[in-house]
Amino acid sequence: MRVNENILISSLTTIRLGGPARYVLEIEKPEEVREAYAFAHQYNLPIFVLGSGANSIGHDEGFKGTIIINRMRGIYEEKLEDSVKLKVMGGETWDSVVEYACNRNLTGIEALSKIPGLAGAAPVQNIGAYGQQISDTLTEIEVYDSVTNGYKTLKKADLQFSYRKSILNTSEKNRYFVISITLELKEGKMPRPFYNSIENYIAVHNITDFGPKSIREIVSKIRAEKLPDPKEKPSAGSFFKNIYLTNEEAEIAELKGLPIYRGEDGNKINAGWLIEEAGFSGKLLHGIRVNEKASLVLINESAKSYNDLAKARSEIVGKIYDKYGYWLEQEPVEIK
Ligand code: EPU
Repeated sequence: MRVNENILISSLTTIRLGGPARYVLEIEKPEEVREAYAFAHQYNLPIFVLGSGANSIGHDEGFKGTIIINRMRGIYEEKLEDSVKLKVMGGETWDSVVEYACNRNLTGIEALSKIPGLAGAAPVQNIGAYGQQISDTLTEIEVYDSVTNGYKTLKKADLQFSYRKSILNTSEKNRYFVISITLELKEGKMPRPFYNSIENYIAVHNITDFGPKSIREIVSKIRAEKLPDPKEKPSAGSFFKNIYLTNEEAEIAELKGLPIYRGEDGNKINAGWLIEEAGFSGKLLHGIRVNEKASLVLINESAKSYNDLAKARSEIVGKIYDKYGYWLEQEPVEIK
């Protein structure tokens, strides 16, 4: 385990905000997770588990606690009867897992190409894009349980996945440290119809190959056109969640002329659309740029502090509430 002291959170997160963290512990072996928790308990310090920092935001006063980062890497493959099991260590970059699977002609996660972050963070918020979610293919995860100080396996059903949620960021938040994740993938292709933007891209570019590698390429292009690369433009990805409505709420919203998507996972309003309609696209608020093409993404262009981000956020949230009566919910996690 590597122990670092007083590291700026702005240097550990893609949105590049936040003061110093008292300790940053880097885990290289499963046994070290227990040591890291014991270290924090010994000094009575709170713990925050960070991945690649693509979905976390630091506060100006920093974090008077211990940040633990998973540095364990590796992808292990096991052939099952009609599928392939991939066990991936949590410190592996998520996109390299997708690349590996696509190169092996395995379907199930190709639409999750280019999502920033680590494999271990993927189940926490049930990452999803272009019609796939990790909960579709994940079978189990290995964790360290900070309540019992033991290691155990949690099955998919235990994780209670829903839109951007699992027990890992709700009822059992901060309890488990993800050591590895296991996916079960099949050779073959994603079922049609694809998500609108993929269908549109295919039609415009006359694409006929829908194998995992081809879908990966398509998704990568769509994302590159719309979403800023967090390495070039500091952001934390989608800053707000889409809004889920009950059938009754959806009917009322439709009567008001709002566009509703009725998917298998429920009725949704595109939060990005609300932000555009409210006139925020491309606007600069307190050093925070509302991304022009994908308005759900806020870019830290010249914000001096978390406080600037908070001001920009309340302007957006407040105006959307006044105009439409919905409270936008923040998607990235705060380090506190
Ligand atoms: N929609 C569908 N089916 C379609 C097309 C659109 O259900 O065929 C819905 C979407 O679910 C969403 C809305 O229409 O409610 C707009 O979709 P769009 O593709 O424009 O994406 P978005 O809402 O801007 C979401 C994710 C992105 C993800 C894209 C692509 C959230 C908060 N954001 O963004 O994830 O890449 O869809 O699937 O769910 C991230 O979380 O950081 C992120 C970038």
